[in-house]
Amino acid sequence: MTTALKPWPYPRWVAHRGAGKLAPENTMSAFRLGAQHGYRFFECDAKLSSDGVLFLMHDATLERTTNGRGIGGALTMGEIAQLDAGSWHSRAYAGEQLPTLEALARWCLANHLHLNVEIKPTPGQDEETGRACGELMNRIWPQAAVQPLFTSFKPEALKGARDVAPHIPRGLLVDRFSDGTGDADLKIALGLDCSALVLNHALWDAALVTRVHGAGLRCSSYTVNDPWAAQRLIDLGTDGIITDRVDLFSPAQIGSQL
Ligand code: G3P
Ligand code: CA
Repeated sequence: MTTALKPWPYPRWVAHRGAGKLAPENTMSAFRLGAQHGYRFFECDAKLSSDGVLFLMHDATLERTTNGRGIGGALTMGEIAQLDAGSWHSRAYAGEQLPTLEALARWCLANHLHLNVEIKPTPGQDEETGRACGELMNRIWPQAAVQPLFTSFKPEALKGARDVAPHIPRGLLVDRFSDGTGDADLKIALGLDCSALVLNHALWDAALVTRVHGAGLRCSSYTVNDPWAAQRLIDLGTDGIITDRVDLFSPAQIGSQL
């Protein structure tokens, strides 16, 4: 028996961390650059500061993408806002700040753009980070607008988000199947009433797409940077493609074609 597919009011193409590697990831400059390349749907990584503010950063630690040291979530938002999150990338972006999730969300709303918040908790903060994401969106995102998409590798984070904001769609991220087949991960996603499974793109094949769509969930992929890989996912009938290569794939020109 098949189940009706969950609504999926999002563009197929998603700009990863704003503009992939073309600008410092998870900064406002990156999101603006992604938009200049025609992208309307943006992925970001969100975690909590020590004083409970959601900010954007991928790693748990500061060293790779800022001039700070140690655990990012151990700092207050005031301290995080002082960091240079651009010099590591290139001189043109020296002094770039790590934005709050609220700043990015308000920019998306003001520009009628879609937002995929990957809930990327500092270890040990899965559920509270998910709850905070839900609470933030309850406060600022109009109910009548297309809702953001919450995704996470951490089921507890998605549970936290669902508990406070059940109306905001969720997707379970999976890099490697926990049981080798995907059945266990699909079961987790269904248990969280997710709208999508978002997989390492190499994991998709025709049988799995049929199984996931048959269960009513959408099929999305990260991080797809080669035309052959994108074409394979389109041919398989999947629903979303997260890419770094905003310069290579132009949603305005290609539509569903490469
Ligand atoms: O959201 C998809 C993708 O960003 C997940 O992997 O490590 O790039 O956050 P990662
Ligand atoms: Ca991410």
